[in-house]
This record gives sequence, structure tokens and C-alpha cells, in this order.
Amino acid sequence: MLQTLPAPHAPKLLSWYDRHHRDLPWRVNPAAAKAGKRADPYHVWLSEVMLQQTTVQAVKPYFAKFLALWPKVTDLAAAPIEEVMAAWAGLGYYARARNLKKCAEAVALEHGGVFPDTEEGLRALPGIGDYTSAAIAAIAFNRQSAVMDGNVERVISRLHAIDAPLPGSKPLMKAKVAELTPSDRPGDFAQAMMDLGATICTPKRPTCALCPFRDDCLAFAEHDPESFPVKAAKKEKPVRFGAAFVAVTPEGEALLKRRIESGLLGGMTEVPTTAWTSRVDGGTTADHAPFPAGWEACGTVVHVFTHFELRLSVFRALTEKVAVDDGWWEPVTNLEAQALPTVMKKAIAQAIPRAFEKHPN
Ligand code: ADE
Repeated sequence: MLQTLPAPHAPKLLSWYDRHHRDLPWRVNPAAAKAGKRADPYHVWLSEVMLQQTTVQAVKPYFAKFLALWPKVTDLAAAPIEEVMAAWAGLGYYARARNLKKCAEAVALEHGGVFPDTEEGLRALPGIGDYTSAAIAAIAFNRQSAVMDGNVERVISRLHAIDAPLPGSKPLMKAKVAELTPSDRPGDFAQAMMDLGATICTPKRPTCALCPFRDDCLAFAEHDPESFPVKAAKKEKPVRFGAAFVAVTPEGEALLKRRIESGLLGGMTEVPTTAWTSRVDGGTTADHAPFPAGWEACGTVVHVFTHFELRLSVFRALTEKVAVDDGWWEPVTNLEAQALPTVMKKAIAQAIPRAFEKHPN
């Protein structure tokens, strides 16, 4: 049975946020927000898309790079997709980058370069779902939208001691967030919930003594905050196998290819590999190499994707520049600028340990 909490919560959280908010590059600080300054919708959208599945620390340099390359959404809309993918390389979940570009084009072409200012208008854009539309509406347009990401789920599930497991309990949690979201400063409230989840109401060893909800939190009252949110048992990830082939010429060029547009890592750059997928293993021996050469085994790299773990046997060969019809030879000194996803960087670094060291230009 859920108990009703004594109101009001929002003012307590907002006054905590006034003092303890994180300074983040896409954010307007609470004093300025109170004076009516709003975060730029382009910055909010870009950061929110990057922050899905990725930490604040990892996102910061990418956010800065994107704004330096494309200061306005219309600049991003006009950018070649290959350059956007190369700038995104390393952030993972590459469908986000393709949707980012499509969304920028839609804002530029269909909305005159101006983001819609309602949740519904935002949700109609490519790649913008329930979470992102609510977050942009609240943070950039101060709409009273209920914003719930993983951090907020943890805070709300503890506050109410919600013992129904995720993901089934999401609608209930969202309703609780909506109940708490104030009409005054809803954008700061959303960001405050996220900051509380990230800094105080952490998954392990939360610092409940410093929490503005200390006197209201049912999980704290039950001495058991760490057991929330309750999650449905996870299925074990399947392990897939494959091989990657790093061919290098005496002139220091490596053979690269572009993956097909659809599917996992679609449109990204790779070294030749066997045909592994999330459901099928690829070959793991040098017999599967793209062409005969003195292939030498140089270990295995492991990469964990959302739905499976991949173990790639890596082979390398010093070879002449053979003619290839579906790839190109790229100077190893220029690999950093390629749209190589992390798994491919790991495979290349396994074969050429210094491949991603900074090279003097
Ligand atoms: N995580 C996702 N969006 C965020 C935001 N706007 N502030 C802090 N953490 C976040």
C-alpha cells in the first residue's frame, strides 16, 4: 500500500538545488533562471540526447566539440552526416547520432530553425521520445512536464518506497513525479531531481543525512533505501564471438570499411571483421581474413553492447596495399578523426598499441 506523503516537497528540493546544483555547460544556473533566463533549447536538446545512456563526465567534451563545430541547430542540419558520425564516435548508441541529424534537419526545414516549445510539438520530431520531450519542455521552456530518467526513478521509488518492480512500475512512478512537479520553476525542479539522484540519492551508499527529503522518504524511514528501485530479474547477456582484422602497410596505412547503414553501428567505420551479430557468432580464425597475408593473432577484446557481449579475436598483418573494392587505406596517424566506434578502437589498439596516441601534426 502506498502512503501519502506530507506536502510540500518541491520547495525543499528547490532550495537544496539553489545551493547544491551542479554547474553544467548546457545549464542556466538557478539564480539566472529565477531572473527569467532560459537555457538555449538547442543546448538542452543536444545535451539530453547525449546524456541518454552516457555519463555527464563523458558527455562534456562531446558537447563542447559539437557546439564548436555547429554553433546553431541550423549548422548541424547543414553538416555532412559523415562528419556528424565522426564527431559522435566513442559516445555509443549511434542511432542517436543519425536521429540527431534528422531532428536538426526537421527543426531547420519545418520549424524555421526554432524548436517547438511544447512537449507534443517536441515529441513529433525524429528521435525525441517521452523523456526528451518532457526534459526540453521543462528545462528550456519552463513547462510543467513530468521528467523521469534513471536518477529520478531512484529518487521517486525511494521517496514513496515503491516496491513494484521496474519496468512495470514506470507509469506509477511517472504519476508520482507529475504530482510533485510544481508550476513554479518546473525546469529547475526536473534538474534538481536529476542532481539529487546523481549526487545524494546514489544507487549505493546514498548520503541520506544530506538529503532534503530525509524527513519524507519512506525508504529512509524503513532503513532500506539501497533496495529501491526494485528491478525485474535481468536476463543474462548472451556472449557472441567474432574476429577483427587489422591490416597495415609498410607506409603506415590501415584498411578501413564503412558498415552498412542499418543495424548495429550502422554507417560507422570499422576494420574488416567476420559477420557477427547480436544473435549469430562470426568466425574466429585467420581463415576468415579478407585476403591472404601473414595474419598474426594478437589477443581478444571484449565489448559489452546493450543486448550481448562481443568477444573479438584480433589479427594483424603487415601487408602491401592490396586493392579493395569496399574499403580504403587510411594513415594510422589519422585514425582519431574517423567514425570508429569504441569496439573498433579497442580492436585496433590491440593490434597497434600506439594507434590512438596523439601524433604531432
Ligand atoms: N542527465 C540527463 N539530463 C540531465 C540534466 N539536464 N542535468 C543533469 N543530469 C542529467
